[in-house]
Amino acid sequence: MTYGPPEPWRIKTVETISLVPESKRPDILTAAKFNVFLIKSEDIFIDLLTDSGTSAMSSEQWAAIMRGDEAYAYARSFMRLRDTVSSITGFKHFLPTHQGRAAEHLLFGTILKPGMIVPSNNHFDTTRGNIESLGTEAMDLVIEEGRDPQNLHPFKGNMDTEKLDHLLTEKGDLVPIVMLTVTNNTGGGQPVSLENIRAVSAVCRKHHKPLFFDACRYAENAWFIKKREPGQENRSIREITREMFSLVDGCTMSAKKDGLVNIGGFLAGNDDSLFEALQNQLILKEGFITYGGMAGRDLEALAVGLDEALDEAYLQYRIGQVRDFGEMIKAVGVPILEPTGGHAVYVDARSMLPHIPQSQLPAQALTVMLYLRGAIRGVEIGSVMFGEHAAMELVRLAVPRRVYTYNHLAFVAEALERINREKDRIPGFEITYQQKHLRHFTAHFKPLSPLP
Ligand code: F0G
Repeated sequence: MTYGPPEPWRIKTVETISLVPESKRPDILTAAKFNVFLIKSEDIFIDLLTDSGTSAMSSEQWAAIMRGDEAYAYARSFMRLRDTVSSITGFKHFLPTHQGRAAEHLLFGTILKPGMIVPSNNHFDTTRGNIESLGTEAMDLVIEEGRDPQNLHPFKGNMDTEKLDHLLTEKGDLVPIVMLTVTNNTGGGQPVSLENIRAVSAVCRKHHKPLFFDACRYAENAWFIKKREPGQENRSIREITREMFSLVDGCTMSAKKDGLVNIGGFLAGNDDSLFEALQNQLILKEGFITYGGMAGRDLEALAVGLDEALDEAYLQYRIGQVRDFGEMIKAVGVPILEPTGGHAVYVDARSMLPHIPQSQLPAQALTVMLYLRGAIRGVEIGSVMFGEHAAMELVRLAVPRRVYTYNHLAFVAEALERINREKDRIPGFEITYQQKHLRHFTAHFKPLSPLP
């Protein structure tokens, strides 16, 4: 097969990984209670658990680390990052946080009261967790096509604007803010079209509601707009990005994705009184308003990373590699969510393992098999993560940015081919221990019959 464009970088530093023998993997799984979050990183060969905080930094970013200004207040690194964020988003206010969920916690903790509702296309698990832990409801309003793993709609992350309008007409008093996740991670890393962002923005303006992006993969979303949306192909990524942000009132950002850094996040927006309240909370919970829980060097590396993630050669390679990974998996006969999203391939465990009912956690079973056969770590995105909110049973194979080669990904496809051949013998699972919030991180499991 021919692959997409070659990597627009060459490798300067390498990190050794090694493959634990297959005979040792059952004991490792048993010790980890069949939860791959609990396996030691050194026992993993290809780690596709997340694309978050796992990027390889560039030589420019490592150089920026050395330039970091560690002053407590108004460090040079803060101002550099503030200016970068302002040039990309156009927002008036910017507050650094140590990662995305800290930004969510500050925002929701400041504006939500019990009984309120926060709609989004799909909330990510930490976003949902942050909202629900405040006694408020996280409502998913993604379009119907976004719930169907085989539907080829080009913008399956779009929000159903009729449902949003209806909600705001009927229960507007209970809705203090509308969120839109770009790209829509929970729905398969699917993009939201510019047309849909405009339409959601218009509904929010009609009802006088602020609209915020959950912006962690905004650059990848912009690339899909350029490639898939009629009339956008000749605009630059920066122009598209700027228009995206001009249609919303603010954002939460996990910079661990399209910031190309290992840690970091921020809040940005235009509302003076909201940001005054957020500043107070930031100082209380994270740190002074110019570092918010980050070191100066991390602020500096993020400023560089944000610019690099908007480079069109980088985005073309990045989205191309994930798309080709999806093609490799399809070629071995394993069903995936289509079209392939921006940061991950999502294997459709429900259609791959139809003999395992949803109540017996088919996506968890596949996650365990990937470790058993390839020492590969993916993540369950189904009933374990979302309980009764799970629309699909997926195993997400997230691709860290600038980290793995095509050969690494071909190794994963080969392991899936092997699992596919023995799939009828794969058992269902049950949960034997769970915590109240975000149970998937720490839950314990048991196979319902012996593993093949
Ligand atoms: N929003 C979305 C859409 C995310 O994907 C994540 C994190 C967050 C918010 C929270 O950001 O981790 O910096 O606190 N997603 C990671 C993942 C963990 O694996 O998809 P964070």
